[in-house]
Amino acid sequence: MNQNLNKLLHAFNQKIKNSVQSTHLNTQLEESMRYSLEAGGKRIRPLLLLATLDMLQPNSYEKGLHTALALEMVHTYSLIHDDLPAMDDDDLRRGKLTNHKVYGEWLAILAGDALQTKAFEYISQDSKLTPDTRIQLISAFSQASGHAGMVGGQTLDMQSEGQAIDLQTLERIHVHKTGALIRFAIEAATIIAHTNETDQQYLLTFAEHLGIIFQIKDDLLDLYGTTEALGKQIGSDDVNNKSTYVTLLGREQAETILAQHVKQAKQILVTLAKTYDTVDLEYLLTVFYQRQN
Ligand code: IPE
Ligand code: IPE
Ligand code: MG
Ligand code: MG
Ligand code: MG
Repeated sequence: MNQNLNKLLHAFNQKIKNSVQSTHLNTQLEESMRYSLEAGGKRIRPLLLLATLDMLQPNSYEKGLHTALALEMVHTYSLIHDDLPAMDDDDLRRGKLTNHKVYGEWLAILAGDALQTKAFEYISQDSKLTPDTRIQLISAFSQASGHAGMVGGQTLDMQSEGQAIDLQTLERIHVHKTGALIRFAIEAATIIAHTNETDQQYLLTFAEHLGIIFQIKDDLLDLYGTTEALGKQIGSDDVNNKSTYVTLLGREQAETILAQHVKQAKQILVTLAKTYDTVDLEYLLTVFYQRQN
């Protein structure tokens, strides 16, 4: 990772520390929230948001820190719920026992709920942004997270377990369950930077490719990665009878489709490079398709 991305990651990690304070209620809820939030993880969505913002408006990343934190909170809540016995029933996440394995199911559910609302609290109280920008962010973020976005995609994913679905349906699952939050990372940067419509559209299309790339890679790693590197149990999709790019098309074709999306994403960066310094986004794109964890 280059110096600038390291700086952004460091700033984000400082922000995440102490982002969930204990309350007068004195329950274990905050401990459970912090357990998953501070367990690590690649922080790829916050980095994408901050790097895009920094590209659009050099040295303005601080204006994106609260939104980046909020995004990581919603992502973390989605993982806590995704791992529950009623969903993917996984025991390992980010190299540690899953939240419900440590705190029990009801507290894991509530920790997810509370992380979600905390996220919106953070954006609504962000004094670095105008009230108008905050509302635009909250509007886009709630759409990306909710029934027409991530939660809708998770629903399709669960409904499709054990079903013979076609490629179009599989793509719809990926676009929503994973793509929506990745798209929001970039959309948020364009909202904060007040980017013109043409460039915003290029960036959103780039983000849509990234979302698909990320989940095809996730499906490949579930079969061909290692539990040690991933920090989560491999083979989970098989146990749950999930349809994935690999089960539907085989490894080779899944990798071919992945490469096609990478090529299209790169072409967009070439266009954007006429106006902006795209070096960080080029690097993040390679992380999306070459990652081993
Ligand atoms: C895992 O996301 C869930 C998917 C959307 C595929 P990440 O691979 O970004 O998980 P962390 O945040 O690094 O743990
Ligand atoms: C989960 O997809 C996507 C969300 C949590 C929204 P997966 O179920 O494939 O994620 P992993 O493999 O458990 O991280
Ligand atoms: Mg899942
Ligand atoms: Mg899962
Ligand atoms: Mg997976």
